[in-house]
Amino acid sequence: MPSLNSSKLTDEVVSRYKDCPDPRLKQIMESLVRHLHSFARDVNLTEAEWLKGIDFVTKVGQFSNEMRQEFILLSDVLGLETTVVELNHGGGVGETEATLQGPFYVAGAPELPKGAMVEGNPQGDPLDVKGKIHDPKGQPIADALIDVWQAGEDGLYSSQDPNKSKYELRGKFRSDREGNYHFRSVLPKGYQIPTDGPVGVLMRATHRPPWRPAHLHFMISAEGYKSLITHLFVKGAPHIDEDAVFGVKPSLIQEFKRKPSGKGYTLDYDFGLSPTA
Ligand code: BEZ
Ligand code: FE
Repeated sequence: MPSLNSSKLTDEVVSRYKDCPDPRLKQIMESLVRHLHSFARDVNLTEAEWLKGIDFVTKVGQFSNEMRQEFILLSDVLGLETTVVELNHGGGVGETEATLQGPFYVAGAPELPKGAMVEGNPQGDPLDVKGKIHDPKGQPIADALIDVWQAGEDGLYSSQDPNKSKYELRGKFRSDREGNYHFRSVLPKGYQIPTDGPVGVLMRATHRPPWRPAHLHFMISAEGYKSLITHLFVKGAPHIDEDAVFGVKPSLIQEFKRKPSGKGYTLDYDFGLSPTA
């Protein structure tokens, strides 16, 4: 085969996908090849740097297991998960904006009665979270499932700490006939994304702060509606303008109000879901 100059090489690699039977896979692979090649040319990548990159992604894979998803973390600090969420969720009128899921969701949390405390016996300032689940026109959605999770006072999710019970600070709740939901928890605190792995090495090498502002996570599903994955952030929380994983949207920053009694906080928030059709 004759030697190929660089742009001919790109065309040649792309052409090798011509027989791909899946048109979407073909499109993705062709575009990926073009972007990878132009990235390497853009930065004039050296062989040593290419090998360093290979070593880095190898470590990201080796660091990942059932409980630790270093690839999601990498995708998040690069803003890729947020880009994909923005491409796929419009956040139309009357709908709550989606944001990233992150690596710490654990399926299977127990369903708890309306008004109950999330699992575990969490330390912190008591918090009541309540509101409505509604459609874009404001009509209530009954029987929606609201799956919630958050980090503890120590900044760790239950899935990060073998000493915590599996579902600590997690739980599922349902909206009632009028679309109302209510659960109890504790005021979330900001925390650092895990920095003990290769992504942490990258964050330090590039002098990027690893902080996430205080937030609660929600995954809400209801028959006939698109699932919504989002967070609610505490207004005025430290690092709200420099989230390490780019999840903050102005519409998701909410007032966690101190109760008149002074004992604890309340968050009132109505979630708008969009219909599937
Ligand atoms: C989280 O909020 O749980 C999270 C999201 C992305 C990366 C790390 C943590
Ligand atoms: Fe989080």
